[in-house]
Amino acid sequence: IFSWAVLEPEEGKYDFSFLDQAMDNVYKNGGKVVLATPSGARPHWMSDKYPEVLRVLPDRRRALFGARHNHCFTSPVYRQKTAQINRLLAERYRNHPALGAWHVSNEYGGECHCPLCQEAFRTWLKNKYEGDLERLNHAWWTDFWSHRYTSWEQIESPSPIGENGVHGLTLDWKRFVTDQTADFMHNETIPLREITPDVLVTTNFMAFYPGLNYWKLREETDVISWDNYPDWHKPGEQIHVAVRTALLHDMNRSFLQKPFMLMESTPSHVNWKEYNKLKRPGMHKLSSIQAIAHGSDTVQYFQWRKSRGGSEKMHGAVVDHCGHEHTRVFREVAELGELLQKMDGVVGTMPHNKVALLYDWENRWALEDLRGLQKNDKKYEETVQQHYKPFWQRGIGVDVLDFHQDLSPYSLVIAPMMYLMEKDNIERLKQYVANGGTLVCTYVTGEADENDLCWLGGFPAGGLKEVFGLWAEEIDTLYPGETNQVTWQEKDYTAQDYCEVIHPDSAQTLAVYGKDFYAGSPALCVNQFGKGQAYYIAFRDDGAFVDDFYGKLADDLELPRALPHLSEGVTAHLREGDGERYVFVENYNAQPVCVPLDKVYQNVETGQMVSKELLLESFGVAVLKEQ
Ligand code: GAL
Repeated sequence: IFSWAVLEPEEGKYDFSFLDQAMDNVYKNGGKVVLATPSGARPHWMSDKYPEVLRVLPDRRRALFGARHNHCFTSPVYRQKTAQINRLLAERYRNHPALGAWHVSNEYGGECHCPLCQEAFRTWLKNKYEGDLERLNHAWWTDFWSHRYTSWEQIESPSPIGENGVHGLTLDWKRFVTDQTADFMHNETIPLREITPDVLVTTNFMAFYPGLNYWKLREETDVISWDNYPDWHKPGEQIHVAVRTALLHDMNRSFLQKPFMLMESTPSHVNWKEYNKLKRPGMHKLSSIQAIAHGSDTVQYFQWRKSRGGSEKMHGAVVDHCGHEHTRVFREVAELGELLQKMDGVVGTMPHNKVALLYDWENRWALEDLRGLQKNDKKYEETVQQHYKPFWQRGIGVDVLDFHQDLSPYSLVIAPMMYLMEKDNIERLKQYVANGGTLVCTYVTGEADENDLCWLGGFPAGGLKEVFGLWAEEIDTLYPGETNQVTWQEKDYTAQDYCEVIHPDSAQTLAVYGKDFYAGSPALCVNQFGKGQAYYIAFRDDGAFVDDFYGKLADDLELPRALPHLSEGVTAHLREGDGERYVFVENYNAQPVCVPLDKVYQNVETGQMVSKELLLESFGVAVLKEQ
C-alpha cells in the first residue's frame, strides 16, 4: 500500500523488485498477502505533470501535492493512471501463490470541488431530474431566499463561500460524492476482476465515516473490511466504547450479511489521538475476539513493523523499533495467534438475529443539516447506540441496517430519529407492521421526504399516523441540564434533550410526562396495526428508560439470548453454522466476573469442558463451543 512512487518512480518506468521480494518472503513464511492498490497516495511527478489530479477544497482552493488521500475522484487522468497501475499489479501477481485478496485503495474519503467534479455533478443531477430544471428547483425549494436556478451551469457544489443553506443541494451533493467514489472504485476494480476473477476484492471502511454512504460502496466489494481504533481506556467510557464498537462490527457484518474482515487494528496504541494510551494487558485479545464474536473472520494489524521515519513512526506495531520479539505486545499477538489457530470452525459461521436496528446515512446527513432542535449536535449516532445497548447487555444479537433493507426476517425493527422518510420506505414499514412485526420509532419520525421537504398533513408522515395511531404536534428542545419526568409502569424516568407533544388517536398511552405545560400528556404509546404493533417513544431519556423498555419487549417477544444471565458490562454473542454453535463471552469490567451458564460448553482455548459458571478475569474473554 502507498508505494506508488517506488513502483513507478518515473512515468511509465516501473520497478516491482521490492514488492516481488515481499510477496516471496511472505509466501515462504506460510502467509498470504492482502495486496493494496496504491491510489491512496500518488507520486510527485503525477501532480506536477497533471495538476487536475489534485483535489480542490470546498472554498475552491486547489490543494498542493502532499499528505495522502488528496486526489480528485473524477479526473480522467487519475482514473486512467490508477487503472493502469492496478492492471500491472494484477498481471504481475495473478499467479503468485501469496496473493490472497485485493485491498482497493485505502479508506476512501473526502470530496473534490474542481471544475471536472462540478461538471460531473451537473450531469448526475440532469440524470436524476431527467433534464428537468423545474423538478430540481421544486425538490430543492429554491424560491426560498431567491435561490432559483435558471440554467444547469449555475449549479455549484456547496461551499462556505457560496451556497450552503439549500438542504436538497447538500443532500444531493453528498449522494453524488458517494456515487462518484463508488464509480472511482469500480474503475479501479475493472482490471483486477478481469485478470484475477477468483481473487476477492475489498476496501477498508471507517466506522460511521460521515462522508460516504457505505451501503452504496458495499456493492463494489466481495467482502467487507474495516479499520477499528477505539479509545478503549478512556476514563469512565469503557462500556460505552465496547457498545459502540460492537454496534460497528454488527453494521459491517450486516452490509453483506456475511462474515467480514478486521482489516486494521492496533496491537497496542495509535499515535494520532489526543492521548495515545496503551491497551491494558488483556484488552488486545478481548478487542480482537470481540470483532470475531460479531462476525469477523480475520484479525489484522496496522502495522507489522514501525517505519523508521514518517508520521507513523510512533504508532503501535507488532514489531517495535527494537527489532526483536521479546516485548509484551509481540507476546500478546503470538498468544492471540495460538487461540485463532484453534478457531478454524468459526470461519464462515454467522448469527441469526431477530432484531434490526436502522442507522441510515441519508437520514444522518439530513439531520446534520437541519436547522432546528439542538443546532449543532442532534446526537443521532449516540441515540442509535443508546437503543442498541439494551440488547448488547442482554446478549441479544442485532443486525444494523439502513432504511432500504428487507425487514421481513425480523421480529423487532427499531428506527430511532428516522426524520427522512421517502414514500417507498413508509410503505415498507407499514407492510412490516401490518404483517405482524413490532416496530419502535421515536420523536422526529417521518418529518421530511427524500428531498428534505417537510411532509404536509401532520407528522409522522403519510400513512404512519395510522400505524402509530397518533400524531405529533410539536417538539420541545431542552437546554443542557433541563429535564422532564416520564412515568412508566409506576417508575419515574428522566427525559432530556427532546420532548415531543403527541396526540393519540387509536394508540394506547403507556407513559406520560410529569412536568411543564404538557404534563399528563403521552410520552409513550403503542398501537395495534394489522397483525403487528407500533411503539412511539416521544422523548429522549438518559438510558434507563430504553433499557427497561427493551428489556420488557425482549421478554414479551421471547428474543433469543446467547446466555441467560449477564451482569453489567458483560456480554455474549453467538455464531453458528454446520451444526456448531459458538458463544463468545466478553468482560469489559476492570474486575473479574462469574458468568452463569445454562449448558455444557468446551472452552476452545483450553479444551476444557465448562458448565454452570464461567470465571472471566478483568477484560477477559472466552470462546465456548456448545456441546
Ligand atoms: C488508518 C490508515 C492506516 C494508518 C492507520 C493508523 O486509518 O488506513 O494507513 O494510517 O490509520 O492508525
